[in-house]
Amino acid sequence: MPREILATSALPYANGRIHLGHIVEHVQSDIWVRAMRMAGHTVHYVCADDAHGTSIMLRAEKEGITPEALIDGVWREHTADLRDFGVAYDHYSSTNGETNREQTYRIWNALVASGHVESRPVKQLFDPERQMFLPDRFIKGECPNCHAKEQYGDACEVCGNTYNPIDLINPYSVVSGAKPVAKESQHFFVKLADFEAMLKEWLEERRAAGGLQSEVVNKLKEWFADGLRSWDVSRDAPYFGFEIPDAPGKYFYVWVDAPIGYFAAFKELCESGTKPGLQATDFERFIRAGSDTEMIHFIGKDIIYFHTLFWPAMLHGANLRMPTAVNVHGFLTVDGAKMSKSRGTFVNARTYLEHLDADWLRYYLASMLGPTLADIDLDLKAFEERVNSHLVGKWVNIASRCAGFVHKLFDGKLANALPAAERVRYAAAACKLQACAALYEARDYAAAMRLIMEVADEANAYVAENAPWTMAKDAARRAELHTVLTLALNYFRLLSLWLAPVVPVTAARAFAFLADTPTRFEAADAPLLGHAIAPFHTLATRIDPKQITAMIEASKESLAATPPSAGTPSPSKASEARQALPSVSPNPVSPSPESRAPSPDFISIDDFARLDLRVGKVIACEAVDGSDKLLRFELDGGELGKRQIFSGIKAAYPQPETLLGRNVVFIANLAPRKMRFGVSAGMILSAGTGGNDLFLLDADPGAQPGASVK
Ligand code: MSP
Ligand code: ZN
Repeated sequence: MPREILATSALPYANGRIHLGHIVEHVQSDIWVRAMRMAGHTVHYVCADDAHGTSIMLRAEKEGITPEALIDGVWREHTADLRDFGVAYDHYSSTNGETNREQTYRIWNALVASGHVESRPVKQLFDPERQMFLPDRFIKGECPNCHAKEQYGDACEVCGNTYNPIDLINPYSVVSGAKPVAKESQHFFVKLADFEAMLKEWLEERRAAGGLQSEVVNKLKEWFADGLRSWDVSRDAPYFGFEIPDAPGKYFYVWVDAPIGYFAAFKELCESGTKPGLQATDFERFIRAGSDTEMIHFIGKDIIYFHTLFWPAMLHGANLRMPTAVNVHGFLTVDGAKMSKSRGTFVNARTYLEHLDADWLRYYLASMLGPTLADIDLDLKAFEERVNSHLVGKWVNIASRCAGFVHKLFDGKLANALPAAERVRYAAAACKLQACAALYEARDYAAAMRLIMEVADEANAYVAENAPWTMAKDAARRAELHTVLTLALNYFRLLSLWLAPVVPVTAARAFAFLADTPTRFEAADAPLLGHAIAPFHTLATRIDPKQITAMIEASKESLAATPPSAGTPSPSKASEARQALPSVSPNPVSPSPESRAPSPDFISIDDFARLDLRVGKVIACEAVDGSDKLLRFELDGGELGKRQIFSGIKAAYPQPETLLGRNVVFIANLAPRKMRFGVSAGMILSAGTGGNDLFLLDADPGAQPGASVK
């Protein structure tokens, strides 16, 4: 039965860059989504930037820009990084948007109306100079337990003790250096105790259904032992976030509107009309209680409580659907140790991409990822060897060894039929690989990769035994040779099909060579026969260890060039979650994101690369009723599908129909904008000062719809 699934990754904080740790998660979910689609299911795949909170507010202030300008720049960087890693969200939003505000208010109002919210005064440390309450991570002082100096307000990194910041000795504000004072303020709380019985039952039910890992449920159940405390969900101004309705000066704590961002991103997708078969009305169908659709979250092990206690409680309290699964992964280590800035192993996504191919890391991570919470080690030597031996040596080489003979001796065509022995071999391999569908679904990618490489070994053994290069010398053995090449390339096609979720770009090249366009795993059922293939071009190259060294060196350099911003520590999730939990063992804290000093004069080539400029063929163009500036365009964006874009060039082009067929240039990754007349999904480029002084840019004839402009 085809399933309908909303899949998400955790929303990256907008105060730092995407690094390889984040990439583990986005690649894990992207592989899953691609595999589920190839198995015939419908998956909507969304994410967003998590744009609120004190850190973002303070960082923007330090850089002398508004928080909105900061999060806009970060959004562009994040979306470009993820796109270039082949992570193909249907929509990537921001929690600082109107749709999210509307959904946050909706859920909040429902929680208030059903009596799950209470309010009471809280005593907290306050920075008298900056006139703001200080989150734990913005207070430092001496550990009350071991007397180590310079410890954060929530936990001591020396003795491991956790405490209340009020108990720190000689505390000071990280923001201003001032001595904080204790001050009282009224806060709002969600009464988690109301949901305890429901949550316990839900955890067990999800464990049984395979929606929660046993390790996760066991951990959570320990924390239930002393009962759940109420969750403090409000923060006082100044704060960058959504103001709480009817409570001036009080804001929603960032973790309230962050998971609601999953809904907002999905709602925007439904309303954008960009996804065939998905409509505005589908949003409510998905999120209503008892919906027969699925909602599956991918997260790291540091944010379990938020997704398995707080988020389900909010949903249930607002009478909405619950998550179907929360899939938790471990943390990335590099060469066996936590990513380290000084060793150059804290690698940003962009730095990786400047030196190495995205599919390589995707394959390596897949070969390491299983359905557990175990950490994933990027062993740089193993990475190099595995990519070179598996991807290039075992997979791509099959094609490169056979292609030439097919073109030279058989006019580029595969044999019309295979003899019985070869048919059996093909069927056995196809049958064996079918197990990968279930392995992908169960997130046991490592097992799937092992199976695929086993079949690759069989294929290579077949080619070696039959030595087509020797056969080719004997004109009497042409039919036999054609059989060998045809089966070998069908092995190659099978492997490409099952590797496609993991290495999408290389697989697309493989299918271009095979002149084949399969979208489902079931294409493996029958081999390609009597089929003309395309000329062979290199599909993938080997990793040169120098590239890895250069990446590590560049990671050291980028650290030297950009000191971490002192005023904006990243929030400690363990301490944040602890507020509502009686006893929480220390949790891994993700490395604090680096900040980057803006350089106002020049942009780098990556800044330019962040713009996804494409050629679009104008397939419809008309004036917009009720607007004297706008033309409504419909563009054929090739692989991107059709796009509606509104462009304010009516004065310059009073006869819009004359534009039909032109190859205009547009920005494809501009956030879709809801306008009075519909959604505008991009921007068309033109030159000039405005009014009737505007001239469309277009590409010479021959440029294909969807072609990148670089
Ligand atoms: N903004 C929150 C999530 C809100 S979801 C409603 C957040 N952001 S984060 O940027 O710190 O982390 C985003 C995701 O990346 C989390 O799932 C986190 O576990 C994951 N990772 C961050 N560092 C990681 C590694 N080093 N390794 C693997 N995953 C890591 O939490
Ligand atoms: Zn201590």
